[in-house]
Amino acid sequence: MAMDQSPEAPSEPELLAHLFDAARAVQRHAHAPYSRFPVGAALRTRSGAIFAGCNVENAAYPEGICAETGAIAAMVAAGEREITHLLVMGDGVTPLTPCGACRQRIAEFGKADTLVYGATRNDHGKAMRLGELLPHAFTAHRLAEGRIGGEG
Ligand code: THU
Repeated sequence: MAMDQSPEAPSEPELLAHLFDAARAVQRHAHAPYSRFPVGAALRTRSGAIFAGCNVENAAYPEGICAETGAIAAMVAAGEREITHLLVMGDGVTPLTPCGACRQRIAEFGKADTLVYGATRNDHGKAMRLGELLPHAFTAHRLAEGRIGGEG
Protein backbone atom coordinates (compact mmCIF):
# COMPACT_ATOMS: atom_id res chain seq x y z
CA MET A 1 0.00 0.00 0.00
CA ALA A 2 1.36 3.43 -0.92
CA MET A 3 2.63 5.50 2.00
CA ASP A 4 1.89 9.20 2.34
CA GLN A 5 5.24 10.50 1.21
CA SER A 6 5.86 7.97 -1.58
CA PRO A 7 5.74 9.02 -5.23
CA GLU A 8 2.83 6.58 -5.68
CA ALA A 9 0.65 8.41 -3.14
CA PRO A 10 -2.65 9.26 -4.87
CA SER A 11 -3.54 12.85 -5.65
CA GLU A 12 -6.42 14.28 -3.61
CA PRO A 13 -8.92 13.90 -6.50
CA GLU A 14 -7.86 10.28 -7.02
CA LEU A 15 -8.15 9.55 -3.34
CA LEU A 16 -11.56 11.20 -3.18
CA ALA A 17 -12.78 9.17 -6.15
CA HIS A 18 -11.59 6.02 -4.42
CA LEU A 19 -13.32 6.94 -1.13
CA PHE A 20 -16.47 7.92 -3.00
CA ASP A 21 -16.60 4.60 -4.90
CA ALA A 22 -15.92 2.58 -1.74
CA ALA A 23 -18.68 4.42 0.17
CA ARG A 24 -21.14 4.00 -2.68
CA ALA A 25 -20.39 0.28 -2.98
CA VAL A 26 -20.82 -0.39 0.73
CA GLN A 27 -23.94 1.79 1.00
CA ARG A 28 -25.71 -0.84 -1.12
CA HIS A 29 -25.24 -3.29 1.76
CA ALA A 30 -26.73 -1.00 4.39
CA HIS A 31 -29.30 -2.67 6.61
CA ALA A 32 -31.67 0.25 7.11
CA PRO A 33 -35.25 -1.14 6.98
CA TYR A 34 -36.40 1.08 9.87
CA SER A 35 -35.08 4.50 8.90
CA ARG A 36 -34.95 3.73 5.16
CA PHE A 37 -31.85 5.92 5.23
CA PRO A 38 -28.93 3.89 3.88
CA VAL A 39 -25.48 5.31 4.60
CA GLY A 40 -22.01 4.34 3.38
CA ALA A 41 -18.72 5.53 4.82
CA ALA A 42 -15.13 5.06 3.70
CA LEU A 43 -12.00 6.22 5.46
CA ARG A 44 -8.33 6.36 4.62
CA THR A 45 -5.60 5.71 7.16
CA ARG A 46 -2.09 7.16 7.40
CA SER A 47 -0.72 4.01 5.70
CA GLY A 48 -2.99 4.59 2.70
CA ALA A 49 -5.39 1.73 3.45
CA ILE A 50 -9.13 2.24 2.88
CA PHE A 51 -11.86 0.82 5.11
CA ALA A 52 -15.60 1.01 4.53
CA GLY A 53 -18.77 0.46 6.53
CA CYS A 54 -22.53 0.84 6.25
CA ASN A 55 -25.25 1.45 8.82
CA VAL A 56 -26.64 -1.71 10.40
CA GLU A 57 -29.99 -1.12 12.09
CA ASN A 58 -31.81 -3.36 14.55
CA ALA A 59 -35.45 -4.03 15.44
CA ALA A 60 -34.43 -2.77 18.88
CA TYR A 61 -33.76 0.70 17.44
CA PRO A 62 -30.98 1.98 19.75
CA GLU A 63 -28.83 -1.06 18.93
CA GLY A 64 -28.24 0.06 15.35
CA ILE A 65 -24.80 1.29 14.34
CA CYS A 66 -23.76 4.06 11.97
CA ALA A 67 -21.76 3.57 8.79
CA GLU A 68 -18.75 5.44 10.23
CA THR A 69 -18.76 3.15 13.25
CA GLY A 70 -18.54 0.09 10.99
CA ALA A 71 -15.67 1.58 8.98
CA ILE A 72 -13.78 2.48 12.16
CA ALA A 73 -14.31 -1.01 13.60
CA ALA A 74 -12.91 -2.56 10.39
CA MET A 75 -9.88 -0.24 10.59
CA VAL A 76 -9.12 -1.13 14.20
CA ALA A 77 -9.64 -4.84 13.56
CA ALA A 78 -7.00 -4.60 10.81
CA GLY A 79 -4.53 -3.07 13.27
CA GLU A 80 -4.73 0.53 12.06
CA ARG A 81 -5.31 3.61 14.20
CA GLU A 82 -4.92 6.88 12.26
CA ILE A 83 -7.65 8.38 10.08
CA THR A 84 -6.53 11.01 7.57
CA HIS A 85 -9.72 11.23 5.46
CA LEU A 86 -13.30 10.08 5.91
CA LEU A 87 -16.22 10.31 3.49
CA VAL A 88 -19.81 9.62 4.48
CA MET A 89 -22.60 9.31 1.91
CA GLY A 90 -26.38 9.38 2.09
CA ASP A 91 -29.12 9.49 -0.54
CA GLY A 92 -30.32 13.02 0.25
CA VAL A 93 -29.54 16.06 -1.87
CA THR A 94 -27.90 17.80 1.07
CA PRO A 95 -24.44 16.49 1.97
CA LEU A 96 -24.58 14.22 4.98
CA THR A 97 -22.53 15.14 8.02
CA PRO A 98 -21.54 12.62 10.69
CA CYS A 99 -23.79 12.42 13.74
CA GLY A 100 -22.43 13.70 17.05
CA ALA A 101 -21.50 10.26 18.37
CA CYS A 102 -19.58 9.46 15.18
CA ARG A 103 -17.72 12.78 15.39
CA GLN A 104 -16.46 11.64 18.77
CA ARG A 105 -15.52 8.20 17.37
CA ILE A 106 -13.64 9.80 14.48
CA ALA A 107 -11.85 12.10 16.96
CA GLU A 108 -10.51 9.04 18.80
CA PHE A 109 -8.47 8.17 15.69
CA GLY A 110 -8.25 11.51 13.87
CA LYS A 111 -6.75 14.95 14.38
CA ALA A 112 -8.23 18.45 14.17
CA ASP A 113 -7.08 18.61 10.53
CA THR A 114 -8.54 15.21 9.52
CA LEU A 115 -10.60 15.79 6.38
CA VAL A 116 -14.26 14.82 6.46
CA TYR A 117 -16.40 14.84 3.31
CA GLY A 118 -20.18 14.83 3.47
CA ALA A 119 -21.24 13.32 0.17
CA THR A 120 -24.41 12.85 -1.81
CA ARG A 121 -24.69 10.01 -4.31
CA ASN A 122 -23.54 12.36 -7.04
CA ASP A 123 -20.94 14.53 -5.42
CA HIS A 124 -18.22 14.09 -2.79
CA GLY A 125 -19.06 17.51 -1.34
CA LYS A 126 -16.74 19.97 0.34
CA ALA A 127 -13.97 19.10 2.76
CA MET A 128 -14.59 19.87 6.39
CA ARG A 129 -11.99 19.59 9.13
CA LEU A 130 -12.74 17.41 12.11
CA GLY A 131 -11.82 20.39 14.30
CA GLU A 132 -14.72 22.34 12.75
CA LEU A 133 -17.15 19.47 13.23
CA LEU A 134 -16.12 18.76 16.81
CA PRO A 135 -14.44 21.77 18.40
CA HIS A 136 -13.15 21.38 21.98
CA ALA A 137 -13.28 17.59 21.64
CA PHE A 138 -13.03 15.42 24.70
CA THR A 139 -9.82 13.44 24.17
CA ALA A 140 -7.63 10.85 25.88
CA HIS A 141 -5.36 13.73 26.90
CA ARG A 142 -8.15 15.50 28.79
CA LEU A 143 -9.14 12.22 30.38
CA ALA A 144 -5.60 11.59 31.60
CA GLU A 145 -5.35 15.15 32.98
CA GLY A 146 -8.47 14.88 35.10
CA ARG A 147 -8.08 11.36 36.34
CA ILE A 148 -7.98 11.02 40.11
CA GLY A 149 -4.47 10.11 41.22
CA GLY A 150 -2.77 11.67 38.19
CA GLU A 151 -1.94 10.47 34.69
CA GLY A 152 -0.43 7.09 35.62
N1 THU B 1 -26.47 7.33 10.14
C1 THU B 1 -25.19 6.97 9.82
O1 THU B 1 -24.92 5.81 9.49
N2 THU B 1 -24.23 7.92 9.87
C2 THU B 1 -24.47 9.23 10.19
O2 THU B 1 -23.53 10.00 10.31
C3 THU B 1 -25.83 9.70 10.34
C4 THU B 1 -26.85 8.65 10.57
C5 THU B 1 -27.51 6.28 10.11
C6 THU B 1 -28.01 5.85 11.46
C7 THU B 1 -29.38 5.31 11.11
O3 THU B 1 -29.22 3.96 10.70
C8 THU B 1 -29.81 6.13 9.92
O4 THU B 1 -28.63 6.74 9.41
C9 THU B 1 -30.83 7.22 10.25
O5 THU B 1 -30.41 8.00 11.30
